[in-house]
Amino acid sequence: MWPYPRIVAHRGGGTLAPENTIAGLRAGLAYGFRAVEFDVMLSRDGIGMVMHDPDFGRTVAGQGSVATTDAIELSGMDAGSWLGPQFRDEPVPFFTQFIDYCKQQRIWMNVEIKPADGFERETGSWVAKVTRESFADEIAAGDPAALPLLSSFSFEALAAARDAAPDLPRGYLLDRVPADWQAQARELGAVAIHTNQKHLTPELAAQIKAAGYGLFCYTVNDPERGRAILSWGVDGFCTDRIDLIGPSFA
Ligand code: G3P
Ligand code: MG
Repeated sequence: MWPYPRIVAHRGGGTLAPENTIAGLRAGLAYGFRAVEFDVMLSRDGIGMVMHDPDFGRTVAGQGSVATTDAIELSGMDAGSWLGPQFRDEPVPFFTQFIDYCKQQRIWMNVEIKPADGFERETGSWVAKVTRESFADEIAAGDPAALPLLSSFSFEALAAARDAAPDLPRGYLLDRVPADWQAQARELGAVAIHTNQKHLTPELAAQIKAAGYGLFCYTVNDPERGRAILSWGVDGFCTDRIDLIGPSFA
């Protein structure tokens, strides 16, 4: 039911390197991580870029937004200096660069689709199509562990991903799991619920597991909390503290 890795580096390499950069993936590898979560949104010209915030100001300097900037311009922006001068000029990656790097290094991917407002279907569809093309051989081989897991807080984006690539697994991201979660998950054909560990209870975990879904949590940075939720039946979680919680934790 959960063929994927149990411990996953959040936003590339957690907090040890600039989030959502190749430097982050390298930091993860240095700590033995071969599983990563990262965020993808579309540029103005409709290309998937690996970035978390819709707007500039935090991880890249200046004003503006991903959705109003062309991919080539984004790819030349410095997404590293905010964390330290040693990361200067670490670029905003293209999604396809992340795919290539992860395939080459055998890193499993949880691709979080993060659409800008109004671009839900377009983003979900684009990410699913590109992922499907890159993983055509793995899809044909029928081994679920070899496939990336697409996830999103956006129902519309995930529905579009389902329509564009029904054979790629989907996780439905929910901050707080609502009462009607199962009807939504069923409609999306989701294999897993991804939820905020802060709000998870043993009862809710048991309910999700009993319904036959995978259960993944974000973001666990306290080893004690990690052990607790795993004991409730949580299948996996992502962490920023790849230095504290290793790939073979628990
Ligand atoms: O995919 C889970 C987690 O990444 C959701 O939070 O804001 O870090 O994308 P965020
Ligand atoms: Mg994310």
